[in-house]
Parts: sequence; structure tokens; C-alpha cells
Amino acid sequence: PKKIKNICCIGAGYVGGPTMAVIAQKCPEIKVTVVDINEQRIAAWNDKILDNLPIYEPGLSEVVKEARGRNLFFSTDVDKAIVEAEMVFISVNTPTKTYGVGKGMAADLKYVELCARQIAKVSTSDKIVVEKSTLPVRTAQSIKTILDAEGKDIQFKVLSNPEFLAEGTAIEDLHHADRVLIGGDQDVDGLKAIQCLVEIYAHWLTKERILTTNVWSSELSKLTANAFLAQRVSSINAISALCEHTGANVDEIANAIGADSRIGSKFLKASVGFGGSCFQKDILNLVYIARSYGLEEVADYWNQVIILNDYQKRRFAETVVNTLFNTISGKKIAVLGWAFKKDTNDTRESAAIYVADYLLNEQAELMVYDPKVKPEQIYADLDYLNTRSEEENRRLLTVVTNPYEAMDDAHAVTILTEWDEFKNYDWKKVYRGMKKPAFVFDGRNVLENELLKSIGFLTFNLGRS
Ligand code: NAD
Ligand code: UDX
Repeated sequence: PKKIKNICCIGAGYVGGPTMAVIAQKCPEIKVTVVDINEQRIAAWNDKILDNLPIYEPGLSEVVKEARGRNLFFSTDVDKAIVEAEMVFISVNTPTKTYGVGKGMAADLKYVELCARQIAKVSTSDKIVVEKSTLPVRTAQSIKTILDAEGKDIQFKVLSNPEFLAEGTAIEDLHHADRVLIGGDQDVDGLKAIQCLVEIYAHWLTKERILTTNVWSSELSKLTANAFLAQRVSSINAISALCEHTGANVDEIANAIGADSRIGSKFLKASVGFGGSCFQKDILNLVYIARSYGLEEVADYWNQVIILNDYQKRRFAETVVNTLFNTISGKKIAVLGWAFKKDTNDTRESAAIYVADYLLNEQAELMVYDPKVKPEQIYADLDYLNTRSEEENRRLLTVVTNPYEAMDDAHAVTILTEWDEFKNYDWKKVYRGMKKPAFVFDGRNVLENELLKSIGFLTFNLGRS
């Protein structure tokens, strides 16, 4: 296969940014241009001050520092980058549809289709087009049809190369990927295109870690992987509810079952519910696809993962209200953590949003602290739910930059993200400042329960009675 010298990636988001930064870092002889229509985002990627990069990921700024301006470029000139590239990654967002057929279930593919049309229109030479976005199985067919419809005398090959990085550990996940998956046509030209992409990853990963399949397996593997991962969280969360009634301890159970190598110990942490831009969206999409083929039992099976997750978020919020003597109206409650997991500033589908909304419906006064999430984002997340007016959200919820201020004079503290720093607070000082009885609801089981109790707190832990 021919050597790739020039890559374009459309979409400079949580996936496009870090993945291309690492490709550029590891392949100094390849020019990598990441393009986006969002000018502000591109400007932030180009900011001299690395703290201003548009996303926060441990290790990301070091990689950007190394490669940016050498062979890594961020630009809004989408056409130019497409024309110059031999390989074009599509890494745009594929959110759940909010209108029309499949509303609330199917993936909205309009941004992906726009990319395909743009590539078809401006290309003047052969291109390998790589699906990096998470897409419904058989999307490659639609992309190929659109690419070929311009009737140009150039060859387009479509590959599927789903991304498995998790936020908060993106750079580590990219540097030491368990596996990379590349799907393509199994004919001569298809296999050649696959090899071009294999060669790129082979700069830093051993060949055993680079799996190749047909296109459809690759596309469907991504939805399946996220469904399995989310299912583990819902499974342990279901057991956490049972633990609270029976004297069993969910962390002990996770430890005990995780020791079975067939089950494995990872991804068994009970929580207030999974969030993030991927799990819910991708399972809803899987459910939608299954239903579209008339596979009702398959659809219902996976849908239950979402139902359980919604139940877990509601259950946690209900526990807060019930424990605080069935009324939280006018009570100050501290919310520690707004991001959907630690070490990210991403709040998409974060459990905190839904728990806060529930508590606000009960007219609690929330004091929110998150080490990385900006106040505007927190208000935007709540406003988006449209449960109450923007004014009311701002009246009932205050964002603070000092955690002690959030907890001072509060009736209760809720832990909604597992940020490490929460463990190191001076909990004696917190206790002194709070109203009594002072409650802590640990929705992530991260604090030292025995320590809190010895100080005088009344504590609620998930999956413990
Ligand atoms: P994102 O919203 O952070 O970034 C997408 C970017 O694409 C945006 O900046 C947007 O402006 C840009 N864009 C949209 N249409 C465009 C167009 N026509 N031309 C140029 N730019 C355009 O999204 P993300 O989190 O990076 O996710 C991208 C894809 O990767 C999704 O399909 C997602 O499911 C998948 N994915 C995400 C993760 C994750 O952890 N976030 C992990 C694996 C896979
Ligand atoms: C996920 C997949 O892990 C990743 O492979 C895919 O590419 C994108 O979607 P991400 O959503 O970034 O990644 O984070 P992840 O670590 O999977 O966490 C998702 C949610 O599940 C978080 O809210 C997290 O707190 C929660 N979770 C995870 C648990 O509640 N318990 C666990 O044991 C693990």
C-alpha cells in the first residue's frame, strides 16, 4: 500500500482532537490537519496558552505542545485540508435525533452526511475516508453512495475505525490501546486501504493489537462494546439496590465476583448512574436498529440497561429527600462534582444534571462545586432540560469555586463525581461548618465512610445498608 503523507480529520472534538494529536506525535512524517466549522474551538486548539485548549485531558497538552506547528495543525479551512489529504477521518458528532422519525433513539447522521458530501464535492484525487465517529451499522454504504454520486474519476474507499478511548484517560488509552479496530471491504482495494491505516497505528502499537474485520463488524463492534460496558455498570447498580436492603456490601461483591477471571474486575464500580456522551446515545441507537429489523426481544434487552440507569439516578435523589426527613425545600445542599466522571470537564449526560434537577424540583438550594466545569456549562446543562425558567435555575443553584463554601452551613453533601481531591478535604472542618445532623450522600463510594462516621456525619453509601 502507498504511504500516507497527509491526513485530514473533520471534527476537532473530544475524539478528533486527542486521536489526531497522538497520530501526529507518533508519525512525525505525516502532516495531520484537524478541521472544524466551530471557529472558537479551532482558536482554542491554536491557543499559545496550553491551559486554554478546548478540552481537558491529562497528558493532552504535552502531546499538543510536541506536535503542534510541526506536523499537527488546526484549521477552519475544511476544503483545503480535504483536497490535500490522502486519508480523511470523519470525527463529527452523531447525537441522538431530537426530531422526526427515530426522535430520542436513532443517531442523527446529518453532520456525517454533510462531511461525505463535502468530501465528494471538493476532492480532486483518490481518498481513503475513515469513519471515526460512532455510527449505526451499514452507514459506510450510505457514505460510499454519496461519495460516488459526483461521478468523478477518482477512487473513494471507506473504512470503519471506531474509537475506544474513554474521556479522562484519552491519551493513556491512545498510547496503550487494548486494540485498534479497522473494518474495510475484503477485496483487493479494500485490503490495501486497510493496510494504509494499519501502517499508521503500527508506528506505536504492535500488529497483534490492530484488528481488521469487514466494515459491518467494525461498525457494530463499537455499539456492542459500549452496550456491554454500560450493561456492567447497570448490572452492578441493580445489585447495589438489593444490597441496601440485605446487609450485603456492593463493593465487597464487586471485588468477589471480579476475582473470577471470566468476569474480570474492571467496570464494576457502583455509581449514581453512568453518564457521558456515548453510553446512552449508543445503546438507544442499538435498540433502534434492533427494532428496525423487528428484533423486539433484542431491543428490550438492551433498553433495560438505560431503564436501570435512569432508576439509579432517581433512586439516589429520592434517598436524599427521604433521608432529610422528606423535605428539602429551602435547605442548602452541596453538590460536589458535575462532570460525568473524574478528570474531564465534559458534562454531557452527567448523572449530576438529573440528580440536581430532581432536588431543585423539591426546591432545595444547591451549591455546586466541580474542579473543572465552568459555571456557564452547569447552568446551560440545567436550562437545556427546560424544567424551570433560567432565572429560577440561577436563583436556586449557585456555582462556587471553593468546595468549603459549597458545604458551609449545608444540611447535606452529595458526591456525584469521583474526583480524587474530595478524599483529601478536611472533613472535620466541613463537619463543624454544617447544619446538624450533617449528612453525606456518597454517590460514588469514594469517601472513607468510617472516618466520616467517627467525625459525626450521618452517611449514605450506595449499596450498603
Ligand atoms: P464533539 O461534539 O466533541 O466534536 C465534534 C466536532 O465536529 C464539533 O466540534 C463540531 O463543530 C464538528 N463538526 C460537526 N459537523 C462538522 C462539519 N460538517 N464540518 C466540520 N466540523 C464539523 O464530539 P466527540 O465527543 O468528539 O464525538 C465525535 C464522535 O466520536 C461521535 O460519533 C461519538 O459518538 C464518537 N466517540 C466519542 C467518544 C467520546 O469519548 N467522546 C469516544 C468514542 C467515540
Ligand atoms: C466510554 C467507553 O468506555 C469508551 O470505550 C468509548 O470510546 C466512549 O464511551 P467514557 O464515556 O468516556 O467512555 O467513560 P467511561 O469510563 O466508560 O465511563 C462512562 C460512565 O460510566 C461514567 O459516568 C462513569 O462514571 C460510569 N462508570 C464507569 C461507573 O459508574 N462505574 C464503572 O465501574 C465504570
